[in-house]
Amino acid sequence: MQTFNEKTVVITGGGGGIGGATSRRFGRQGARVAVFDLNPEAAEKVAAQIRAEGGQAEAFRCDITDRASVDAAVAATLERFGPIDVLVNNAGWDVFKPFTKTEPAQWDKLIAINLTGALHMHHAVLPGMAARKAGRIVNIASDAARVGSSGEAVYAACKGGLVAFSKTIAREHARHGITVNVVCPGPTDTALFADYKEGAGNPEKLMEAFTRSIPLGRIGQPDDLPGAILFFASDDAAYVTGQVLSVSGGLTMNG
Ligand SMILES: NC(=O)c1ccc[n+]([C@@H]2O[C@H](COP(=O)([O-])OP(=O)(O)OC[C@H]3O[C@@H](n4cnc5c(N)ncnc54)[C@H](O)[C@@H]3O)[C@@H](O)[C@H]2O)c1
Repeated sequence: MQTFNEKTVVITGGGGGIGGATSRRFGRQGARVAVFDLNPEAAEKVAAQIRAEGGQAEAFRCDITDRASVDAAVAATLERFGPIDVLVNNAGWDVFKPFTKTEPAQWDKLIAINLTGALHMHHAVLPGMAARKAGRIVNIASDAARVGSSGEAVYAACKGGLVAFSKTIAREHARHGITVNVVCPGPTDTALFADYKEGAGNPEKLMEAFTRSIPLGRIGQPDDLPGAILFFASDDAAYVTGQVLSVSGGLTMNG
C-alpha cells in the first residue's frame, strides 16, 4: 500500500480509541494528521504520540455538532497543513437503552453527533476537494446500521443514515474524483464499548456472548480498524466508491 507522504488527513474523534489508532497509523505512513476532537487533551495526546514517532500531527479542538467550530478547525488545518486530501468521519457517541426508555433530548444529541456532525464535516470539506478534483472520504458507521442492535435504536438509525448519505455523496461527487466509502466496526474495545457493556448490566455475560458469536473468536481492538480505513483513503482504492465494509471478526456477513 502507498504511503501518505504529503497528504493532509483530518480525523474526527481522533482522540478516541479507533480514531487514535487510525491517526497514529496515518502518521506512521507519512501523512500530515489533523486530529479533531471535542476533547482537546485527548487529541493533543494522540498528536504528541505521532510527533514522538517522527510524524507530523496537530490537535484541533472541534465540536462536530457546531458548524462554527467545524469551520474554525477546518480553516486552522488549511492554514497549518494545506488542502485536505482525506477526511475520516469517525467521531461518535451512544446511549444504551431500549428505545421506549429513551428521551427526545437524547435522540437530539445522538443525531447531532452521529449524523449531523458528519454532514457539517462534509459540507465544510467537500467544496475544497471538488475544486481540486480529488479527495477521499471514509465514514465510520457501525454494524448496527446493517443488521440493527438492541439498545441502540437511534444510534443505528443515524449510522444507517450515514451509510445512505455516503452512497449519495459518492454519486454526486464521483465526477470530481472524490470517493466516499464506509467502514462498519463491530464491537471494539474502546471507551464507547465500555459504556455499552455498563449499559448491558452484566458485562461478563455480554462479553461471553460476543466472543461466542464472533466467528474470529474475539471482540475487535482499535488497531483492527486502520487497515480498512487507510485502504479506502489510498490510491489503491481509486476505483472503489459508495461501498460498505464490516470489520467485525465476521460477526455480520453481508453480500
Ligand atoms: N467501539 C465500538 O464497539 C464501535 C462499534 C461500532 C462503531 N463504532 C464507531 O466507531 C467510531 C469511533 O468510536 P470509538 O469506539 O473509538 O469511541 P471512543 O469513545 O473511544 O471515541 C470517540 C471520540 O469521539 C469524540 N467525540 C464525541 N463527540 C464529539 C463531537 N461532538 N465532536 C468531536 N468529537 C467528538 C470523543 O471525544 C472521542 O474521542 C464511532 O463513530 C463509533 O460510533 C464503534
